[in-house]
Amino acid sequence: KHWFASRTELAGKSVLVTAGGTAERLDPVRFLTNDSSGKMGFALAEAAANRGADVTLIAARTTAPPIVGVKLVRVESAEQMLQAVLERYDAADIVIKAAAVADYRPVSQAPTKIKKSEEKLVLELERTTDILKTLGERKTHQFLVGFAAETEQVAQYAMDKLRRKNCDLVVANDVSQDGAGFNLDTNVVQIFGKDGLIEALPQLHKREVADHLLERIVRQMQKKPA
Ligand code: CTP
Ligand code: CA
Repeated sequence: KHWFASRTELAGKSVLVTAGGTAERLDPVRFLTNDSSGKMGFALAEAAANRGADVTLIAARTTAPPIVGVKLVRVESAEQMLQAVLERYDAADIVIKAAAVADYRPVSQAPTKIKKSEEKLVLELERTTDILKTLGERKTHQFLVGFAAETEQVAQYAMDKLRRKNCDLVVANDVSQDGAGFNLDTNVVQIFGKDGLIEALPQLHKREVADHLLERIVRQMQKKPA
């Protein structure tokens, strides 16, 4: 049991959390990224550590400060996050993928700063590897939690992601709603399991959302034979 943990439900468990927005480089001074603050993932890592878990947080771009008692691994791109997660996957009991991973990256990275020339510049992008889907395919004993950021048909898209990526839970947020999603201190989420909607939470501080989610994860893991 860790000195900083006030509870013990996850003592002896190894938890891997990803957070923040990946940055996909164009050249040494430019990249493509998104509005993710990393706050939801950091709150989840803290909530897991408070329950006695051994927590590793793999963080891309974020404004959140490091957390006492949580191992922090910094990455930049989707590819680096994929490698960092895969290295630690076998040893993990619970994996929570709260990161906003870029779906596309520039096909090539210029080794030197791109100089301006023509009036129009067309960027060619290619798909990144879907980290969560890869984890779902390679799942052995891990409890896998994905996120789904949606602006419409939340339940349908969330369940689709849960099945497609072989997740145990999917946490969906309607990012078009006030008080939910990127770069805020609050979130409004719905938790989906294999049989559909489990729980719809009201607007809460991300710390409270994290606490609810960890409670739910612990409960679902007790149901599921290890
Ligand atoms: N995810 C991932 N690797 C990617 C893209 C997404 O691991 N290359 C993960 C996210 O971390 C999140 C989940 O997949 O846990 C869902 O992300 P989301 O962007 O909502 O869904 P996508 O599957 O990327 O589909 P789309 O963006 O088209 O809705
Ligand atoms: Ca996406």
